[in-house]
Amino acid sequence: MQSILVTGGAGFIGSHTCLLLLKQGYEVFIFDSFINSSEKSTEKILLTLQAENLELREKLHLIKGDLKDAKDIEKVFQLCLKLKRMILAVIHFAGLKSVHESTLEPLSYWENNVSGTINLLKVMKKYNCKNIVFSSSATVYRTTSKNLLNENDICKPINPYGNNKLTIENILGDLFKKDPLEWRIACLRYFNPVGANELGYLGEDPKVKTNNIFPQITKVALGRMNRIKIFGSDWPTPDGTGIRDYIHVMDVAEGHISTLNYLLQKQPQILTLNLGTGIGTSVREFIKIFEKVNNVEIPFCVEERRPGDNAFVVADNSLAKLILNWAPKRNIEDICRDGWNWQLKNPNGY
Ligand code: WQD
Repeated sequence: MQSILVTGGAGFIGSHTCLLLLKQGYEVFIFDSFINSSEKSTEKILLTLQAENLELREKLHLIKGDLKDAKDIEKVFQLCLKLKRMILAVIHFAGLKSVHESTLEPLSYWENNVSGTINLLKVMKKYNCKNIVFSSSATVYRTTSKNLLNENDICKPINPYGNNKLTIENILGDLFKKDPLEWRIACLRYFNPVGANELGYLGEDPKVKTNNIFPQITKVALGRMNRIKIFGSDWPTPDGTGIRDYIHVMDVAEGHISTLNYLLQKQPQILTLNLGTGIGTSVREFIKIFEKVNNVEIPFCVEERRPGDNAFVVADNSLAKLILNWAPKRNIEDICRDGWNWQLKNPNGY
């Protein structure tokens, strides 16, 4: 039985990825502090599997801990040894992830995200686990152009969160340079992961207030918020509102499985890949599509631009498609339908 450690596995993308790891036959050890996730998400993973006639409770382990404490991380590796398991690889999601919050609490972001990752890598090295998939972000890019962003484009983050992600990518690069025959490393740069698994048990349920667009659209649809504030209608885009690359969370999760399988089959290497669809959707389009797909009304008002925003952030995903033999299968309508299905079934979250 091959065991995978998933840090932040109780979170939005982490829980969807753990679902697929279990379906692939891996044993999964989730390490999570629950600072921005719910312990209930593991139950939701199991309910989703049971809905597909899969009973895998004994293959899913949940360990509460904090990356800031290396002893907590060591506990996981010790548990695996006791269970006569060897952690084959780590998928590293754990970290604070609000761009806005990172500007208010930069030290907390640097400590949690960067120091926490250094702790993780030191323990991995001690236990000779040298395969890691890292959750990076499109916020590492300098996004000023109208072009699709590719992995060779200039990286120049404009907020502490983006700086954290780029710094961790550089740390992984230095680690690989030191031992290029030992480490298998993949940095996955997410664009805008949204939506939910189509069965409606798993969804996006952050504890930290998010100002991301999709959870707000579903809250307005529920009647929990009066309207969406569109941040700027004077962007250099066809309808004046910001354009993003919204990718279904299940496509992101499948991208992680493809990356893990690729790394485990190939020689030691380091790679950086965009996880996006290559398709841009504006805020106005997103709202209209959501209304049409779900037959609900989403009132909105136009406000000033949000500091730190850009007009156009869309992926060139050709490298990921080529190397991983992966491609997004779901579209913006699937995102709207599946995300709303989860929110309707979970009006108060988990
Ligand atoms: C999307 C669009 C806003 C809210 C962030 C992080 C990124 C990644 C995904 C982790 C923009 C507009 C939004 C609202 C609006 N997370 N908007 N009204 O900023 O593209 O990316 O989440 O990796 O790192 O930066 O996502 O959903 O906040 O904004 O008009 O109330 O919606 O201006 O054009 P963003 P978002």
